[in-house]
Amino acid sequence: MNEKTSYEIMKNRELLKAYHKADAGAEQTDQEQKLPSIPCLQAPKGTKTIKLPTDYHSLTMTGTLLDLIQKRESRRKYAEEPLTLLELSFLLWSTQGVRRFAGHNNPVTFRNVPSAGSRHTFETYLFINHVEGLPKAIYHYLPEEHELEFWEDRSDFSQELTDALCGQRFAAFAPVLFVWASIPYRMEWRYGLKAAKYLLIDAGHVCENLYLACESIGCGTCAIGAYDQDRLDELLGFLPGPSAEKNYSCAVYAAPVGKRISE
Ligand SMILES: Cc1cc2nc3c(=O)[nH]c(=O)nc-3n(C[C@H](O)[C@H](O)[C@H](O)COP(=O)(O)O)c2cc1C
Repeated sequence: MNEKTSYEIMKNRELLKAYHKADAGAEQTDQEQKLPSIPCLQAPKGTKTIKLPTDYHSLTMTGTLLDLIQKRESRRKYAEEPLTLLELSFLLWSTQGVRRFAGHNNPVTFRNVPSAGSRHTFETYLFINHVEGLPKAIYHYLPEEHELEFWEDRSDFSQELTDALCGQRFAAFAPVLFVWASIPYRMEWRYGLKAAKYLLIDAGHVCENLYLACESIGCGTCAIGAYDQDRLDELLGFLPGPSAEKNYSCAVYAAPVGKRISE
């Protein structure tokens, strides 16, 4: 390892000690300075939306929690079969579904996954190849409405997506690829220097819920951390960083989903 890389790695390790740095720095966060936050949900783009069904009890679910934890594994091969809209809806609800709002001036959401200070920085984007009733396109999940909106009405993303996923074709061609993009300012407003660490920890909860929810309905998934940041962000229409903009978004984590091939 050369000196420059070694220095960068050492700097990255400081992220793990964000508590210490923030406490020593004693700089007030934007919340402490009584600055306004930004909305806890991204406003719809105003394109056509698709209502998601919610009769999850009609899904065929198998396995106790013990079974699901024991059987969970990263699955990279999927059946030809499409996902149903109800299955996709259940997976979105399990990973980012909103249960309730709290607070007046700066409302926050409480969801099916935990988040530091309930700041929930993630927006979910879906690259859909094969879901019953949905044309191939890029979608954005609206958790409050529990709807999908067209993010990019284009079906020619496969090659660009494969490149953005560093050649991981199984993920680019899966029936659905979930991409979680963070709006870090939602967390920074309250936690300042601790925000980056917290939002990355949050991502783990989201993806683990996806793993377990997939297992329960005969689907499989695989966490994806190997991707080309600039290409994936560009595909989603985000401005390249670094940026101090409050609405700055960047992809953080991804996961393809498909029906399991029977063992
Ligand atoms: C943060 C993170 C990033 C990962 N990135 C990838 C990836 O880009 N491609 C891949 O095939 N698997 C990826 N994985 C899956 C791991 O390779 C997998 O979890 C590990 O081999 C253990 O296997 P298991 O999940 O079946 O227990 C990732 C897992 C995590 C938690």
